[in-house]
Amino acid sequence: MSNETNQTVQIGGNSITLNDLIGKMTLDEKIAQLIQLAVPFYEGAEDAGLITGPMESLGITEDTVRNSGSVLGMAGAKDVINVQRTHLENNRLGIPLLMMADIVHGFKTIFPVPLAIGCSWDLPLAELSAEIAAKEAAVSGVHVTYAPMVDLVRDPRWGRVMESTGEDPYLNAEFARAFVRGFQGTDLAGDYDRVAACVKHFAAYGAGEAGRDYNTVDLSERQLREFYLPGYKAALDEGCEMVMTSFNTVDGIPATGNSNLMRKLLREEWGFDGILISDWGAVKELIAHGIAADETEAAAKALKAGVDIEMMTSCYAKNLADLVAKNEIDEALIDEAVMRILTLKKKLGLFENPYRAANPEREKEIVFCDDHRAASFELALKSCVLLKNESVLPLQSGQKIAVIGPFAQSGDLLGPWSWTGSHDAVVRLADSIKNKLSQPSSLLVAAGCDIESSTEEQWQEARAAAEAADVIVLALGEHSDMSGEAGCRANIQLPTVQLELIRKLKALNKPMVAVLFNGRPLDLHGVYDEADAILEAWFPGSEGGNAVAELLFGGANPSGRLTMSFPYSVGQVPVYYNAFNTGRPQGAADAQVRYVSQYLDIPNEPLLPFGFGLSYTEYDYSEASISSDTMTAEQPLTVTVKLTNSGKVAGEETVQLYVRDISGEVVRPVKELKDFRKVLLQPGETQEIEFTLTESQLRYYHSDLQHFSDAGEFLAFVGPNSKQTTALSFKLVK
Ligand code: GLC
Repeated sequence: MSNETNQTVQIGGNSITLNDLIGKMTLDEKIAQLIQLAVPFYEGAEDAGLITGPMESLGITEDTVRNSGSVLGMAGAKDVINVQRTHLENNRLGIPLLMMADIVHGFKTIFPVPLAIGCSWDLPLAELSAEIAAKEAAVSGVHVTYAPMVDLVRDPRWGRVMESTGEDPYLNAEFARAFVRGFQGTDLAGDYDRVAACVKHFAAYGAGEAGRDYNTVDLSERQLREFYLPGYKAALDEGCEMVMTSFNTVDGIPATGNSNLMRKLLREEWGFDGILISDWGAVKELIAHGIAADETEAAAKALKAGVDIEMMTSCYAKNLADLVAKNEIDEALIDEAVMRILTLKKKLGLFENPYRAANPEREKEIVFCDDHRAASFELALKSCVLLKNESVLPLQSGQKIAVIGPFAQSGDLLGPWSWTGSHDAVVRLADSIKNKLSQPSSLLVAAGCDIESSTEEQWQEARAAAEAADVIVLALGEHSDMSGEAGCRANIQLPTVQLELIRKLKALNKPMVAVLFNGRPLDLHGVYDEADAILEAWFPGSEGGNAVAELLFGGANPSGRLTMSFPYSVGQVPVYYNAFNTGRPQGAADAQVRYVSQYLDIPNEPLLPFGFGLSYTEYDYSEASISSDTMTAEQPLTVTVKLTNSGKVAGEETVQLYVRDISGEVVRPVKELKDFRKVLLQPGETQEIEFTLTESQLRYYHSDLQHFSDAGEFLAFVGPNSKQTTALSFKLVK
């Protein structure tokens, strides 16, 4: 039980320990703390959401509302203050509400989607984005954000890859830490400009079969621990206050009812004693999964698994009191859940200051202020990835430019999970480009097609614009609803009408730059060969149009590096860099022509690998060396490489260090990212980059799930991405 038990809070001017407060609560009042209401409930909506509508039909009494513990999705200082005030007027013991919401990559100032932030490899900026999101959310009355999402992803068919930072466990863990630091700061009680974070979705939600949302996950515990758990663990090691369950099964049991995962691993092994909240409806979904016969059994299983708050269904509200009365659950389980909820309320200072940072006047100054937009612009610059450039970029201000495509004048640059942002406030790409031209009249704009439909008229307009231009900038991509939750696609190419537009414009023989706005790695057939240059912009956020224009005209040098592989085609998926070699690797010296692990019709390698990204300058790697060919637990190694900017413009390179364990007790990935360094170099400048490699970085989960390193042969790799590296061999001696 949390050591907060004996800490006191102030209620109505009196001090009381959390323990004594719980002692004063009726069973119904305790159960109500486990209930989360949604905004429509407060708007009196009859049919919005699952936990709103006629209370009696949901088994929710007036008491439940008066005593409910938290609210989902409410933001806006004035509204929050009103709801909190009314709640406290009606709550017998004066226990305040927790206000929770999805503030994933920004509040009003929307940052690039997390997959884009991952491609920045810029941890300080990632942390700043979370800090700004927290500040805008906090002043708008939010106490908790349902973020960061740290699910490792390997399947771009899944809509929520946009919400992750990619396919590498080490990098995901580093970003998880940065986001938690940004959201929570170091003094949640005293720093009202921060919010509590809720790491999600526990666990391995990104491993759904066939890239289909909510689908079955079936992994060995070793795979789970080696690849999927590091992100969550890192967030909790950084002090993340809450965890959200995932919709999927883990080893045959839905996470939300999985005591092995939640009680044994999360709470006992990892020592997490914070709030565990279900995902939306996931408690009731135990029925559909097939481990609960009804809502009563679902409530019992979820509570026994350690789920403290049920989101958006009312299994707890309807059944927990009866389950206690029938001795089918121990009231102590409810007490421990209530203790965790009250403890977070205490940590946030809500008993003494139930409105915390909510302040309508301050809200107007802070939300979407210039400094915040500048930070979003900076992060968007760093998140875009230059995938191809055959001497077309950067553009020149004196050129006549046709901006053609469904995103030429679209505000849909915010991406999924930007419900508090404003598309209207987004500067359109065409307008941003216009600002870069010496003659505004040199800008020609045409849609060419919609995202998934087109007309002859649209084509005619596009052709006219293209024929009059020196350069075509294609603004293409996916609607933000084509990724995100439940946004899964079996075909991950651009929509057909857009590929058709590219093909027809290609016939005009004009230089073509494709800018992509999308939430996943795409199959770039019909784009990669046809365009002379490709800038992956993802969903770049509130300042995305300006950032893309800045990069296109060379005001900034692209520095993003992919954190998720771009497959050659969807047939390769899942494809990721840290894969196992197999017994018949393609290309081995003694490989047979046919009988190796390969396809007859496509390559094994992705089109663009993890870590890949181009620049407007060139970087030369030389003199890679290792301090010794032997490492011990006491004697780490140093890997050194010289990096020279041999081009004509300054640029930021991300030097990457990988390792391969040549022979383990279980098979080991052909490469694993262990460290990286972002290096800004002026033209002609050389820097010596040094990495320290330690024995602890060579540890892995053995077949008995013990985590340690083996003596033996290793390779260290250093270079610009997971493919182009220099290998350095060494031994670990024990
Ligand atoms: C959704 C998502 C989760 C989100 C929650 C609340 O279904 O899976 O990430 O935080 O519901 O909106």
